Order: sequence, then C-alpha cells, then structure tokens
Amino acid sequence: MNIIIVKNYNDMSRKAAHLFVGQILQKPDSVLGLATGSTPVGLYTELIKFYKEGMIDFNDVQAFNLDEYLELKPSHEQSYAYFMQKNLFEHINIRPENYHIPSGTANYQEKECERYEALIAEAGGIDLQILGIGRNGHIGFNEPDIKFEAITHVVQLDEQTINDNARFFDNIDDVPKTAISMGIKTIMQSRGIILLASGIEKADAVAGMIGGKITPELPASVLQLHPNVTIIVDEAAASKIPSKNI
Ligand code: PGA
Repeated sequence: MNIIIVKNYNDMSRKAAHLFVGQILQKPDSVLGLATGSTPVGLYTELIKFYKEGMIDFNDVQAFNLDEYLELKPSHEQSYAYFMQKNLFEHINIRPENYHIPSGTANYQEKECERYEALIAEAGGIDLQILGIGRNGHIGFNEPDIKFEAITHVVQLDEQTINDNARFFDNIDDVPKTAISMGIKTIMQSRGIILLASGIEKADAVAGMIGGKITPELPASVLQLHPNVTIIVDEAAASKIPSKNI
C-alpha cells in the first residue's frame, strides 16, 4: 500500500485528481471506476477544472460506478445516477453511452448484477478505481462480513450506513435499505485503486484497513492484498494509523 498523508480535504482531492489526470493522459481510453458520497466530490471538481482548462479529454473514457440504491429512479435527487450527473458527467465530455451505473429500478435485480459485471469485463476491466471508506470499513456497499469472493450483487445496508447516509435525506425512513454494489472481487480486479478518506470519523476504519488484520469484518482490509493501491488520507483520517505502517 502506498500511503500519502495530506493536510486536508482539498489537498486530498487535488492529489487524487493528479493521479486521475495522469491515468487519462497515459491511456485516453481508460476505464475508470467511480464512487459517490461526500469524499470524491472535491476530486470531481478538480477533474472538471482540468477538463475546462483543456488538459484532459473524456471523449474515449469509460466509467463504471461502484453502486446504486435500489428503488430510486435515476431522476431522484439522492440516486447515484443523479449525483454523478450533477457532480461530474454534465460538466465534462464523457459520452453517455460510455458511463455506467447499476440500475436501481431493474425488474430483475440478479440479472442486472450479471449484466453489470459482464459489461465491466467487456470493457476490459477497470484501470483505475476510486474508493471512499465507510466508518464501518465498507468499500462500495460491501458491508462488514461480506464474502471477499462476491462480484456485483444485491446488498442489505448496515444500520450504521443507513444512519450515516440519513444526512442526505429528509427522513431516515427514506434512506433505501438495499443497493446493488460491485463486489469485493470486482473491486480487487481493478488494475489500480485509489482510496480517499478525510476527517476524524474515518480514523478508526483507516487504521484498521492499513494496520489491522485482513478480515471480512473490515472489508477495506482486503486492499492490503492488492498490488497497486494508493491511500490518500488527510491528517485527521490518518491520526490513528499505527506508526509502524507509515
Ligand atoms: P462518504 O461515504 O464519502 O459520504 O463519507 C464514503 C463511503 O461510505 O464509502
């Protein structure tokens, strides 16, 4: 694991953007794995700036999002399809046929999972995947005790995740309880991974991911087994990493 500790959220976002820009310059038809939540918003803002300055071109880029809530239409303000439009896609020249998000409203959810996994394989796999981390150590919506062998699948959200995500909804009862998520195996098949974490509330999960036992109880700990992972964390999120690991 390559661990980069930066001062704050803005520095984390800039550093991650530089790695993404480098990836796209090296391989203009890169397949990117994208994430939602508060963590990658700054990264997307930086990428939009690079695009507007003419430094990168998304015309040949493909993108796959990690997850989507079940039962929210893409037009719902809290769907991840909507989030991606507002925070990235509508500001850059990525082609609509080139970005993919699992459908939260598919009639046959298992079929949708199979379709999504096959689409990633057809694209040649993911070159660079961005991840956040939940306070419970989840990556994507792979909650504690997930099987490392899982590919794209339907997941039940943890109580902690539902509580954490309630801030985006008017009422906690409106937070979906299920989602479709890439599995741990899907994520581990990415050729490169960048995980971002900011803020003291992520410090325990980050410390466990880097310095703790590799266990499904803390899904992100599986990243210790990936050959090409960069962890970019701000000082607060890094504050509990054991010193032997830095
Ligand atoms: P957050 O979520 O970026 O909103 O903190 C991260 C995650 O749950 O993976």
